[in-house]
Amino acid sequence: MHSPEELRLGVETYLNELVLTSELGELRDAVRYSLLGGGKRIRPVLALATAEALEVDVDHMLAAACSLEFVHTFSLVHDDLPALDDDDLRRGQPSCHSRFGEAVAILAGDALLAEAMRLALSYEAPAVARELTTATLGMIGGQYIDITTSGDRDADGLVELHRLKTGKLLAAPVGCALAVAGVPERDQGPWREFATDLGLLFQIIDDVLDATGTAEQLGKTPGKDEAAGKVTYVTLHGIEHARYLADEVRSRVDDRLAILPADTSVLAEIVATIRERQA
Ligand code: IPE
Ligand code: IPE
Ligand code: MG
Ligand code: MG
Ligand code: MG
Repeated sequence: MHSPEELRLGVETYLNELVLTSELGELRDAVRYSLLGGGKRIRPVLALATAEALEVDVDHMLAAACSLEFVHTFSLVHDDLPALDDDDLRRGQPSCHSRFGEAVAILAGDALLAEAMRLALSYEAPAVARELTTATLGMIGGQYIDITTSGDRDADGLVELHRLKTGKLLAAPVGCALAVAGVPERDQGPWREFATDLGLLFQIIDDVLDATGTAEQLGKTPGKDEAAGKVTYVTLHGIEHARYLADEVRSRVDDRLAILPADTSVLAEIVATIRERQA
């Protein structure tokens, strides 16, 4: 088994060496700028760690794992656009539209999404591409809810928003690993329940960090949710209670992890990092 850091380095190498579609021409500069300019790589690392727990070789999982990072980066490039969150800073550098202009950023996002599909379709079985597509559609639906109901949602609405906007792409690494490992559907439930709660945990912490973190720590502008009048875990419950709720979800995640029929020690490390992260 590899450590999370070893897996992250494997992801960086794969992303750096990947040859992008030549028809994209110079648009590839904006794609590489967004993809290779930092990022914690949580989704691909989670995919690789789940694959290893399921006894799949890391090398065989890398394309699926990195397809998730492509979709995630696409979501960030479009999330930062003036029409959505209007963010100038991402991953510690000017966001894609600040650097290349809005039109190029829209196309870079499109290219990232299509490159992701290309990677997912490199597997013989269609299950990986199906997982990726379903998660992408869920994320887009979540983004739509976020921008159309920002100041107008209750606790249940917020859970639903997080389940889609962030949860789908945080759960997809587990779904993709199950697909590559060929785990039959009847055995997938406990894995997917773990993944769903992990996604919720991730976005609660993102909401807390938006209120408490600095631009240096986060590599993105803090305080954006409040400035946009968005209802988040912090505005709804206050910072302390949001942290308490994160701990509740975390212990549920730990319980779900404990019953999985595999060596989940590396996954447990990743869960701890997600709960304790400051950036
Ligand atoms: C940020 O995701 C967007 C959310 C879904 C909260 P990450 O915190 O994983 O961002 P990077 O990839 O490390 O930049
Ligand atoms: C973004 O949520 C989630 C997606 C990009 C799908 P946020 O808008 O909270 O993400 P940050 O805080 O800008 O990274
Ligand atoms: Mg947003
Ligand atoms: Mg945003
Ligand atoms: Mg946020």
